[in-house]
Amino acid sequence: MAATDLERVSNAEPEPRSLSLGGHVGFDSLPDQLVSKSVTQGFSFNILCVGETGIGKSTLMNTLFNTTFETEEASHHEECVRLRPQTYDLQESNVHLKLTIVDAVGFGDQINKDDRPIVDYIDAQFENYLQEELKIRRSLFDYHDTRIHVCLYFITPTGHSLKSLDLVTMKKLDSKVNIIPIIAKADTISKSELHKFKIKIMGELVSNGVQIYQFPTDDEAVAEINAVMNAHLPFAVVGSTEEVKVGNKLVRARQYPWGVVQVENENHCDFVKLREMLIRVNMEDLREQTHSRHYELYRRCKLEEMGFQDSDGDSQPFSLQETYEAKRKEFLSELQRKEEEMRQMFVNKVKETELELKEKERELHEKFEHLKRIHQEEKRKVEEKRRELEEETNAFNCRKAAMEALQSQALHATSQQPLRKDKDKKKF
Ligand code: GTP
Ligand code: MG
Repeated sequence: MAATDLERVSNAEPEPRSLSLGGHVGFDSLPDQLVSKSVTQGFSFNILCVGETGIGKSTLMNTLFNTTFETEEASHHEECVRLRPQTYDLQESNVHLKLTIVDAVGFGDQINKDDRPIVDYIDAQFENYLQEELKIRRSLFDYHDTRIHVCLYFITPTGHSLKSLDLVTMKKLDSKVNIIPIIAKADTISKSELHKFKIKIMGELVSNGVQIYQFPTDDEAVAEINAVMNAHLPFAVVGSTEEVKVGNKLVRARQYPWGVVQVENENHCDFVKLREMLIRVNMEDLREQTHSRHYELYRRCKLEEMGFQDSDGDSQPFSLQETYEAKRKEFLSELQRKEEEMRQMFVNKVKETELELKEKERELHEKFEHLKRIHQEEKRKVEEKRRELEEETNAFNCRKAAMEALQSQALHATSQQPLRKDKDKKKF
């Protein structure tokens, strides 16, 4: 209201307000307004299919929505579990539904049996929504909500018990998504075995504390049917898009040499129950539970992790700025601590390297000294040898000179001998 209007209101004498009514007045039209708004806005519904390769996921989706979604068969040799979302725009009457089917490709095939990608995918969708909510300019009205509303968990119809992989995966998912367990390919197991198998599965889920989605019984309109259906879980389903003539009607069924399994015959399987519960009765509850329970839990944990908290009754109201300041200080001190830690690490490393270098230098020095000693020793020995050799040479030279002298003396003596003989001859 403008300031002038405000002034006029406060200065004016209180007058009885009159309202001209045209037709029916009342807030009982609110639900109609809501419906009309929601219809204009359209709906989104996201289904996650988890089950081993070839268990019948795509066939069931096609059967549920009576269409043929484009799918590619998964290989049994995928390197890891990969999530493949596909979105379709569906329309029934004037209601638009953005349906996303997410396939956990390669699940149950891997040796390491990693369910992490599934958990991460669900969290990533929550995170995207949270980021949109936290934006200054948010557009949640036309935001494509990709949060998973339901996880159809396909159980292999072994007739024995749940695999440990099933229990572990469901346990990890149950706080993040509404799980509806279904026994796939229920036509491959006999009726009495199926009955026992269902009881066994429910027992194992309870004893392992796995929380599966319970159809709500708080709304009178659907309480009865939902209570009955809860007792039928897990639904045993058969999927087929093939049409077979039964009597004079074409029905979706699987034909075998010994007979026909009709998908929509409640005596043959629980397909109709699943379709009723999932699409006709509880689709909105699944969407709501996703928002109010699973997303809320994710959001709370995430915000608490970021340092936000609600005030308790006595303390100051929760202030975004204070939290931001506190978080910033915490971050800075953490940064400082890390910096200091790294600096210390660097100093230690330098000291270590210095010590290592000194040690190496000392070793080198010792080695050098050792070599030097060896060298001197060698030098000394060579010197001695040289001296000995010199002495020997001198002695030899002396001996040689003496010999030469002797030789020349001898020579001289022999040369004098004939002369004397001649003299002697002359005497005679
Ligand atoms: P991937 O996407 O490759 O993991 O397989 P999928 O789980 O989507 O299985 P898909 O729907 O492709 O079905 C695999 C095979 O199982 C096909 O030959 C289907 O005809 C068959 N099949 C599907 N549903 C049923 C069923 O309810 N009963 C029986 N007996 N066979 C089924
Ligand atoms: Mg498939």
